[in-house]
Amino acid sequence: MLVHKVKNSGLEHVAIIMDGNGRWAENKGRPRLFGHQAGARRVREIVESCPELGVKYLTVFAFSTENWKRTQIEVSGLMKLFKRYIYKETRPLIEAGVRVRFIGDRIRLEPALVSLMDQLEAQTKNNSVVNLTIAINYGGRDEVTRATKRMADDVLNGKLSLDSINEETLPKYLDTHVLPDPCLVIRTSGEARISNFLLWQSAYAEYEFVDTLWPDFTKEIFSSVVSEFENRDRRFGGLVK
Ligand code: FPP
Repeated sequence: MLVHKVKNSGLEHVAIIMDGNGRWAENKGRPRLFGHQAGARRVREIVESCPELGVKYLTVFAFSTENWKRTQIEVSGLMKLFKRYIYKETRPLIEAGVRVRFIGDRIRLEPALVSLMDQLEAQTKNNSVVNLTIAINYGGRDEVTRATKRMADDVLNGKLSLDSINEETLPKYLDTHVLPDPCLVIRTSGEARISNFLLWQSAYAEYEFVDTLWPDFTKEIFSSVVSEFENRDRRFGGLVK
């Protein structure tokens, strides 16, 4: 395993909405999938820069529950790209000590992709340098709905009492139940929307909207966004001491 220079910052978990692949490709007169391919390559650089920036958890939004509305060509191209990404990146991810997890509803994904996702999770489960979570067929409302159903089922089956439910209960049923909440959510491409990403988990997160299109989002830009975050006061509704 590689030896990493690890920084101790207050930035335990960063989440990224990787937006702008389509425009990046269109600006170059190329098909949208060309942009997604460039976007997938950018993920490695950002993951590998996490230890030196003190980022222990990185969560990236790769495909939303709304993205099924795109053309069939784009959707099937993205699914193929996810499979290729897993094939190609398994070794470098293992060598960099990255633990990979997937969040989102797997029910609508093709079985071949789901089995690759399962395999990658199993192959990296003992790694701990960086925790990479990839959101595929993920939507915050969908996640909360699925979690609520499972919680209601536990109440019906007597495993959970209604009176014991508090703010700590629902997160245990979310896809992200083993992850800390994100401190910082970055969206690239100049759009200032949260697009149904980590709705519950980002209640106290800082948001940073950057103009760069995702395929151009270098580790230097990532590092400058992180430094900007470190200069902010986080009050969590209270006062700065
Ligand atoms: C949003 O850009 C991006 C997506 C819907 C796909 C994100 C996927 C990747 C970056 C590649 C795969 C990543 C992994 C981790 C396997 P957009 O298409 O909405 O861009 P636009 O707003 O310019 O049209």
